[in-house]
Amino acid sequence: MTTAQIISRNLATPNRWLEGEFPEKLKSKLEEMFSGKIILTNACRSAIYLALQTAGIGKGDEVIIQAYTCNSVPNPILWAGAKPIFADIDPDTLNLDPRKAEEQITDRTKAILIQHTFGRPADIDKFRPLCQKHGLILVEDCAHALGSKYNNQQLGTFGDLSVFSFEKEKGIRALAGGALLVNNEKFAKHAEELNKSLPSSTLIQVAKVLNNYLTWRLLLRRIIANPAGKSLLSLLNKTDFFNILLSNKERVGERPNWYPAKMPNLYAQVALAQLGNIDKFNQERIAVAKKYSNLIKNSHFKLLEPFVGVNLRFPVFHPEATKIISQARSQGLWFGNWYNKEVYPDGVDVAALGYQPGSCPNAEKLASMTINLPNHINITESQINQVANFLNNYGN
Ligand SMILES: Cc1ncc(COP(=O)(O)O)c(C=O)c1O
Repeated sequence: MTTAQIISRNLATPNRWLEGEFPEKLKSKLEEMFSGKIILTNACRSAIYLALQTAGIGKGDEVIIQAYTCNSVPNPILWAGAKPIFADIDPDTLNLDPRKAEEQITDRTKAILIQHTFGRPADIDKFRPLCQKHGLILVEDCAHALGSKYNNQQLGTFGDLSVFSFEKEKGIRALAGGALLVNNEKFAKHAEELNKSLPSSTLIQVAKVLNNYLTWRLLLRRIIANPAGKSLLSLLNKTDFFNILLSNKERVGERPNWYPAKMPNLYAQVALAQLGNIDKFNQERIAVAKKYSNLIKNSHFKLLEPFVGVNLRFPVFHPEATKIISQARSQGLWFGNWYNKEVYPDGVDVAALGYQPGSCPNAEKLASMTINLPNHINITESQINQVANFLNNYGN
């Protein structure tokens, strides 16, 4: 069943939205896939929060993360009472630079969170020994990397603790939700205790997620290219009821009371149905990436080394990124701006989230140059050619 079919069958039965058999089924499936203990949550940011609590990380502790990230990475660190310490990225991978991370280690550092940006594996061979040397916990953020591998081994299986996202913009385009994978046995008991004390999600939260999904599907995606659509979206995004990815509290590093919570039955039903598609979706995105890599010849655009990871997004970089994105959109090409800020998205108070402007120049520069090419799984050959032609002709 598709996500839309599952939603339409469940719309009239809110009594099945929160409780039911699907969280247990999804948990078993993920435990089989990753050979570790899984705790399901209502979002990946809840899973990060839980990961820190599981490891006893809190007040006075520091967690090293990369800039060129989403606010929902530093936010749960702040919610746990700890301090996110930003380190710069390697401009060729968009992932945390191990040397820059090491420079930030102090005696308050408790963990390094490595993010597999856009599904490209972080430098695990450097981070594992680095964490061992300094007695630090390694957390893998696999929000972009479901099904991606490093040396033929699933990402998520290298860290002491790993987190995943089932939010609709990620690998399997489910509704929402997250998971914590506990690989290190020493954390398993505490994780289970925390799991037991997790509150249920609320019907209003599920209704918000459904409202966001349906508004996009039935309305916004049809009108988003014209000015009325853009104005409507920016208006809706100011409200917590619509903007489920960035509440007003999260803009300034505060915890909304709906995080963390258990994964609702409905999210689990959709995620379970979609999970079987992950390899197919990843292969399709890799195929699109190969085509773009071969077709784009305009050397004014920086491209990353091709064919690494699962290409959740296919970014290209140009100093006039903002102008290029709006020009492309006016021609009907849906170029994206995900990660166009060192702590995404625009409108978060980066200082409140612990980021010191100027401290991570690679992340700042690349964010300002980021353009996501359309690489959704239904893209056609002719749309790919149109995108490549647009880029090849830009500035000529
Ligand atoms: C790297 C990374 N980690 C975590 C998250 C949070 O995911 P969720 O929306 O499921 O909380 C995001 C969201 O985009 C992300 O980009």
